[in-house]
Amino acid sequence: MNLKIAVLSGDGIGPEVTEQAVKVLKAIAINFDHHFSFTPALVGATAIDQLGDPLPESTLDVCRANDSILFGAIGHPKYDNDPTAKVRPEQGLLKLRKELGLYANVRPVKAYESLLGKSPLKKKIIKGTDISIYRELTGGIYFGEKKISADGNTASDLCEYSRYEIERITHLAFKAAKSRRHKVTLIDKANVLESSRLWRKVVGEISKDYPEIELDYLFVDNAAMQMILNPNQFDVILTENLFGDVISDEASVIGGSIGLLASASLGDKHSMFEPIHGSYPQAEGKGIANPIASILSAAMLLDHFELNREAKMIRKAVEKSLKLNITTPDLNTKFDNITTNNVGDFIEDFINNPDDSNMNFKNMHLGQSTII
Ligand code: IPM
Ligand code: MG
Repeated sequence: MNLKIAVLSGDGIGPEVTEQAVKVLKAIAINFDHHFSFTPALVGATAIDQLGDPLPESTLDVCRANDSILFGAIGHPKYDNDPTAKVRPEQGLLKLRKELGLYANVRPVKAYESLLGKSPLKKKIIKGTDISIYRELTGGIYFGEKKISADGNTASDLCEYSRYEIERITHLAFKAAKSRRHKVTLIDKANVLESSRLWRKVVGEISKDYPEIELDYLFVDNAAMQMILNPNQFDVILTENLFGDVISDEASVIGGSIGLLASASLGDKHSMFEPIHGSYPQAEGKGIANPIASILSAAMLLDHFELNREAKMIRKAVEKSLKLNITTPDLNTKFDNITTNNVGDFIEDFINNPDDSNMNFKNMHLGQSTII
């Protein structure tokens, strides 16, 4: 298959982790006889510094001209600490989602067997967790009218949803549940918010088209508690933009590190794949950023284009790296010398030599005999 991929690596650790995902995709292309091209483009604080715009028109053009997008991370402390900044890196990401119509954000959350001890939550609670979060991505409070009074002392953000915006992601969530455990949980705040009551109404109506799927409703405050009390009750979670943002960061604790969580942002025409973590500026250039979320985002990209065997190979390689402790310090209590690059190299090598024994990995892939 020929695939043209735009690479928007962004700020902070974005470029370091994205580089590993590209490396892994190149190994897949060679071993499975595909042709992938990679076209870089600027976004975020890096784009503001160079072109004065967090999402330059040239970047949008590159995104539109390619089949898909691999995104790194954006954000920089100089903007976080300045509420008066007129241009912010995050505006680039939000505009990208809106302009390309990426309305459905899919965030898988999984408790890997080999990492059960890494989560601050008890093993018996998280064991077996396998959740797919469907977060609406181009509506709600993120995109509603924003106001600030003339004296600067009163501000508001409107949370608005239309039936159509709710319908299209709801269908995707129910379809996903069909090939999973047949359950959708709608997370909302319908006891307080009018927009949430519309979600309940529309989702309830659509659920009639999917009689084999169980539909459950939870208020977001209760859901936040249930997520760490009993995450196994969840299969597909369906929710609006802001609740999905919060709940997915919370859910990442189950996996042991936010550095593991990948995501897909899907629209009718375009698709983008990105880790859910941010730009982690404190770690920039230190080689400690976990590239697995970015590598697993690349696997989601392959799945999206129905290259399922290839995606499975990446996941197998990732699981092997986790099992052998070939991980960055966020997960590694055994070895403190494994870098972002080492993890990428290991996964690349596994794809090139999937039948090698661990012994071989020790010798040829890391060159550090104490490692395994
Ligand atoms: C995410 C991020 C973004 C969001 C930020 C960077 C705008 O937190 O993708 O979850 O809030 O959607
Ligand atoms: Mg977030």
